[in-house]
Order: sequence, then structure tokens, then C-alpha cells
Amino acid sequence: MSVIILGIESSCDDTSAAVIKDGYLLSNVVSSQAVHEAYGGVVPELASRAHQQNIVPVVHEALKKAGVTKEELSAVAFTRGPGLMGSLLVGVSFAKGFARSLDIPMIDVNHLTGHVLAHFIKAEGEENKQPEYPFLCLLVSGGNSQIILVKSYNDMEILGQTIDDAAGEAIDKCSKVMGLGYPGGPIIDKLARQGNPKAYTFSKPHIAGLDYSFSGLKTSFLYSLRDWLKEDPDFIEHHKVDLAASLEATVVDILMDKLRKAAKEYKIKEIAVAGGVSANNGLRNSFREHAEKYGWNVFIPKFSYTTDNAAMIAITGYLKYLDKDFCSIDLPAYSRVTL
Ligand code: KG4
Repeated sequence: MSVIILGIESSCDDTSAAVIKDGYLLSNVVSSQAVHEAYGGVVPELASRAHQQNIVPVVHEALKKAGVTKEELSAVAFTRGPGLMGSLLVGVSFAKGFARSLDIPMIDVNHLTGHVLAHFIKAEGEENKQPEYPFLCLLVSGGNSQIILVKSYNDMEILGQTIDDAAGEAIDKCSKVMGLGYPGGPIIDKLARQGNPKAYTFSKPHIAGLDYSFSGLKTSFLYSLRDWLKEDPDFIEHHKVDLAASLEATVVDILMDKLRKAAKEYKIKEIAVAGGVSANNGLRNSFREHAEKYGWNVFIPKFSYTTDNAAMIAITGYLKYLDKDFCSIDLPAYSRVTL
């Protein structure tokens, strides 16, 4: 009999529902919240309210697109955390109520695990290349920069992580200093495509092991900009493509230096990337170059899986379902948690 999983994601500012049947994606509906743009960042209370408005129509749309009735569902998987508590509670409560009313199992999913396991989502008519265990995954987002050793779908070890800012956070902050919009990542990416990545040099961290640090880069960017602006008040306007390209290149170098080190240390050539920053074209290109130069077998997610989405929650739910790894109705949401 087929296994059909409804996935629900509401950890931050995207309300999403997806349906996966036997590992194949049938639908993935995402409703993003434009309300935060005016504030330059996500406002938790507004996010929670928007999730409440969106959750029912988004789930309805996901089932409709998938051509699946709620009675056909095998289980409901939901993001338990990490994320904003007010946002998480909407998805968690909805999922629990929905599963209970249908008398089917509920499955809790760690959002970070979901990002990593998005590489196992299959789509009809596609190549569906999947990493083999053990593989390394660079998880880079607004809140995380980690190198993860993935031994199986439910056994992951963090080999290194940021000791201060995450890569996405550093990019967003530098972009804010330049007076660009929010979030800065996609804007920097677009500008960087037209600029010279070697135009400027910013400081890189010297940290032992496989950990990252991005706060020094942020300070170096800020101080350099301050000096240049003293000489030319229109410096940013005149040089923004080169600034973006150089900033992006520095972040990519920092990320890839440690990833190469991890690949060498653990003798692994199956290498994946995940999370919001994995949408970055400079980083994606660097992965392709590393594949060529070092014989890596690289896994770069579709753009739709780089941002928050329920497809990754549904695939994780599917894998847990096969092991009958269900949760009980009294399981709370958690705002902070590691893998
Ligand atoms: O995983 P994600 O959607 O959620 C959070 O962790 O919040 O990641 C969001 C981060 C933001 O910092 C955003 O600026 C960054 O991912 N991002 C990008 C790009 N698209 C999103 N950074 C660089 N280039 C991009 N194209």
C-alpha cells in the first residue's frame, strides 16, 4: 500500500504544506509573508497571525494540487522546531488536530534535519540523484552554518559550526550597512553577478578545527566601508557590484575552506549543501568547481528547497514513517534545538 505524507512547515515566515507519496513529491505550496518587508526583519507576532490566516488554505491547496483526499493520508509530519515559538505553535497545533481527527499518526520533524534530507525528495520524470551515506552536508542559513556528517537519515553529527554569526546573517547585516533591502542575501547575489570578486579584500577568520566565524568579516566590511565613505560619500553607489561580489567571494571562500578540510579529514567525496544560503549562485558555482577539481559528487538543491518549505518536512516524515517513528499528541514545540 502507498504511503502518503502531509508535511507542514511554519517555523518562521513561510506557511507551507506538501504531499509526498512513496518518496515522490505531489505538491509543495508555500505562502510567504510580505508583511515583514516594511520592518526589515521578521516580526514574530505578525508571523504567527499570518500563519493562522494561511494554514487552512495552504493545506487545502496542497491536497488539491496533489489530487489526494485527507482520508488517503497515512500520517501528518510537522516542524517541531527550531524556529519562532508563535509561528511553530500554529503548524504544530494544526498538525496535531488534523492527524487526531483523521486518526492517523503524527510525526515531529527537526527543521534542520529537513533541510539536509531535502536531497531525498524524488520528482516524477527526473533523474533523482541522491547522496549515499555517509555524506557531508554544508547547512547554511540565516541562523546556521554547520558542517554535518550524515550517517543515516536519523544519525547526524555536527563536525563544525559557527561560533558567532551565521553566514546568511553576516551577508544580511553587510547588505543592511550598504542600505540595500531585506533580506540581503538574494540582493547581494544579484549584484555580485555583475561585479569583480577580487576588487576588495576583507578579513577571514583563523579558527582551528572545523568551526566557522563570520563576525570578523562583518566588522571588517563595516570599517572598510566607513573609511571609503569618508573619501567618497557616494562610494557604495559607485562600487556596489564590486562590494557585493567581493563580500560574496569572501563568504564562499570561508565556507569552502572548512568544507574541503572536513572532506579530507573524513575521506568523504559525497558532499551536499542545504539551507537558505545554498540558493547563492557563487556558492553553487564553487560546489561545481570543487566537484571538478576534487572529484566530489555534489548535491545542490533545487531553488524551491533552499528556502523554508514543507516538502523537506514531508520527506523526513516519510522516512520516519517507514520506521514507525511517530510522536504523541503531548509533544511540545521547541524554539531552540540542535540536530
Ligand atoms: O534557511 P533560511 O531560509 O532561514 C533562516 O535561517 O532564517 O535562510 C535565510 C537566509 C537569509 O540570511 C538570506 O539572506 C539567505 O538565506 N539567502 C541568500 C540567498 N537567498 C537567501 N544568501 C545568499 N544568496 C542568496 N541567493
